[in-house]
Amino acid sequence: MLTGQIVGTGSALPKKVLTNKDLEAVVDTSDDWIVRRTGIKERRISSNRQQEDTSQLAAMASQEALEMAGVSPEALDMIVLGTATADRQFPSAACLAQKYLGATKAVAFDVAAGCSGFVYAMYIANNAIAVGNCRNVLVIGAERLSSVANWEDRGTCVLLGDGAGAVILTQSTNNGGILSTHLASDGNSWDLLYSSDRQLDGSQLPEVLNEVAQSPSYLIMYGNRLFKKAVSCMASIATSAMEHNGLTADDIKFMIPHQANIRIIRAAADRLSIPMDKVYTNIDRYGNTSSASIPIALDEANRKGLLKPGDNVLLVAFGAGLTWGASIVKWSLASA
Ligand code: ACO
Repeated sequence: MLTGQIVGTGSALPKKVLTNKDLEAVVDTSDDWIVRRTGIKERRISSNRQQEDTSQLAAMASQEALEMAGVSPEALDMIVLGTATADRQFPSAACLAQKYLGATKAVAFDVAAGCSGFVYAMYIANNAIAVGNCRNVLVIGAERLSSVANWEDRGTCVLLGDGAGAVILTQSTNNGGILSTHLASDGNSWDLLYSSDRQLDGSQLPEVLNEVAQSPSYLIMYGNRLFKKAVSCMASIATSAMEHNGLTADDIKFMIPHQANIRIIRAAADRLSIPMDKVYTNIDRYGNTSSASIPIALDEANRKGLLKPGDNVLLVAFGAGLTWGASIVKWSLASA
């Protein structure tokens, strides 16, 4: 059977660090509240001057993944990019990343699935490999959530950050690679998290945010209700993924969840009986980077040598749509 194996990972984060202390000058909040309620200490904010648009971050992360994989950009058959914050409404961020990379032979497109974008993108990529249509696929999660943050809403702006992560999937006939991916959506609950017309004038942003690029829409979220949905959906779909593969929590070497809130991650891990020392988190440094959070965390875990060939790695996401998904990867890369 044909399947996709991860042969390279990469990530890219904007240079500018925005700390909780910095945010105290923007909205009525405190470092103590943000750390206690979310686990976030700081996040990265992208800048046009630094060439850190969504597609540029995507290309930087992809370059790292291609180098690790030893795959040339011309050898890519497809680029699938999960994002809710493409540089423009069109063309896709994937096509712009294709241009930056020189991946001239690839088919490139974006996937809109909120924070689940990377897992959705991996599902499409792996299916293209499984039916024999593609040999090498670049899968990316890239976001610039700072551009859709409402910097007057303390309930949401403190959560968000920018960044990108990428993996190269290569066709393989070995056992392993992506064992299975499971997706779900619930459009009935769309209004728990959505984008709306912007009322805040971006030019009025405080000095500390002077590099933020404001888009014409901003994020509205009903955090409390979303919190409960996130925990139950992530736990149930991860359980389905494990059961489908005949695995139990003991068989999972690492869980790499979407990084929305450390309390959501702890609660989901608890329901799954996966101890926190088997859960990779970096939310303290990057906040919620939406579809970028899983591939950034995966790249960090890989580069730290935490993942060994044969390990079962559980990826689990939840986001706007609502959308959620889980994937189990039999790790095949030797330590980076
Ligand atoms: N600083 C200080 N106080 C704050 C802040 C802040 N930044 N934000 C809210 N508060 C206050 C509220 O006004 C409220 O005050 P009140 O009691 O006087 O009314 C109090 O803190 C509690 O507010 P809640 O909203 O009930 O706080 P909660 O514990 O639910 O935490 C949070 C809010 C962090 C947003 C949480 O609900 C959450 O993480 N929700 C889930 C988000 C999620 O799942 N995202 C995943 C998909 S979306 C995505 O990834 C883009």
